[in-house]
Amino acid sequence: MKKVVLGYSGGLDTSVLIKLIKEKYNAEVIAVVVDVGQKENITAIKEKALAIGAVESIVIDARDEFAEHYILPAIKANAVYEKSYPLATALARPLIAKHLVDIAHQYGAETIAHGCTGKGNDQVRFETAIACLDPQIELLAPVREFGLNRDYELAYAKEHDIPIDHQLNIYSIDENLWGRSIECGPLEDADNEPPESAFAWTNSPLKAPNYNAYLEIEFESGKPCRLNGKSMDLANLITELNRIGGLHGVGRIDHIESRIIGLKSREVYETPAAAILLAAHYDLEKMVLTRDVLSFKPFIENLFSELVYDGRWFSPLFQALNQFVNATQETVSGKVKIKLYKGNVIIIGRDSKNSLYQKEFVTYSSFDQFEFQSARGFIEIWSLPYKVVSSITNKKTCNNTHIPLKKMEKSYVKA
Ligand code: ARG
Repeated sequence: MKKVVLGYSGGLDTSVLIKLIKEKYNAEVIAVVVDVGQKENITAIKEKALAIGAVESIVIDARDEFAEHYILPAIKANAVYEKSYPLATALARPLIAKHLVDIAHQYGAETIAHGCTGKGNDQVRFETAIACLDPQIELLAPVREFGLNRDYELAYAKEHDIPIDHQLNIYSIDENLWGRSIECGPLEDADNEPPESAFAWTNSPLKAPNYNAYLEIEFESGKPCRLNGKSMDLANLITELNRIGGLHGVGRIDHIESRIIGLKSREVYETPAAAILLAAHYDLEKMVLTRDVLSFKPFIENLFSELVYDGRWFSPLFQALNQFVNATQETVSGKVKIKLYKGNVIIIGRDSKNSLYQKEFVTYSSFDQFEFQSARGFIEIWSLPYKVVSSITNKKTCNNTHIPLKKMEKSYVKA
């Protein structure tokens, strides 16, 4: 009998798929639930798959792997798509794909199925990642192939005794450690303010506490490793920041997003930890990285973010960009002080042993050590090209003669 590994979430789509794949393809279904920090009862999901008819139901605890190997590179790269979206859903897809491929190999299955529709990004991400990891694997996307919709699925579930969640959400939700993505329902009207019911991790800033929450985050080579002086592994640190940030109404995002397949969509996110960590990380970078690195790195960051969004995590280009980003992070160590207040992340201080900020040079006090006379010579040379340009472009207005360049200051001209 054909064996199909199914990426299982416990939701309506993939629950229907367990039965439907059995029926339409005469196959055994091995359900795989990957725990990437979704706030759900994973054991209940595992059991649900068996109850519906999966021959195996496998849970993979990938929280630490997700934090260390997928979220951390994104922090180092200040990765944000279209200036808004910290890529929570997109970052988890290659990791889930990798585990599906591993299980397929382990169980000798030739086919992997997912529950994505034909309109979204996730079908592209799963299938591209799987193709990168094992091009021999056959892919099955029944929701897309059979054009399944919610009404059909509800009817099918009823008919086949598939348990349905009583409060079926009007929204389509995807959750992991790095954020909560919310689509559909009232959000489809791009001009409507997202109702409070769309949010589950964050307080409305209006209802957030009326005091500042002070935080100190310490980074080592780009990695957040201590929160308020306490050493924490990354997954736990992120979980804690999601909690504190959520309490203070931090990390709500509402934007129009360009999907891979060409459609625009209206997306709402809750990403408290990402809002805090990305702000803190970039702040520290500004203290320890040189101006030229700070100016060049965003080109790489932008490309990095697009490749993550596009599902090209395992591509050679992405891997090379990731190495570049890593190479910039060696000195990104130090502490950043932050306060959270009613939806705002406010950076209030930073310190690093690698700081390029030298108070003795920059101070306006009498302790000044900057040799400011040398600024004159610097500006002389700096502005020289523009003086030459100006002497040429002003030619016409001055009877066709060049304006002679003023002689350089003697002390800066070689004798
Ligand atoms: N637009 C985001 C992305 O493509 C989130 C998709 C989330 N999926 C969902 N079912 N809400 O990465």
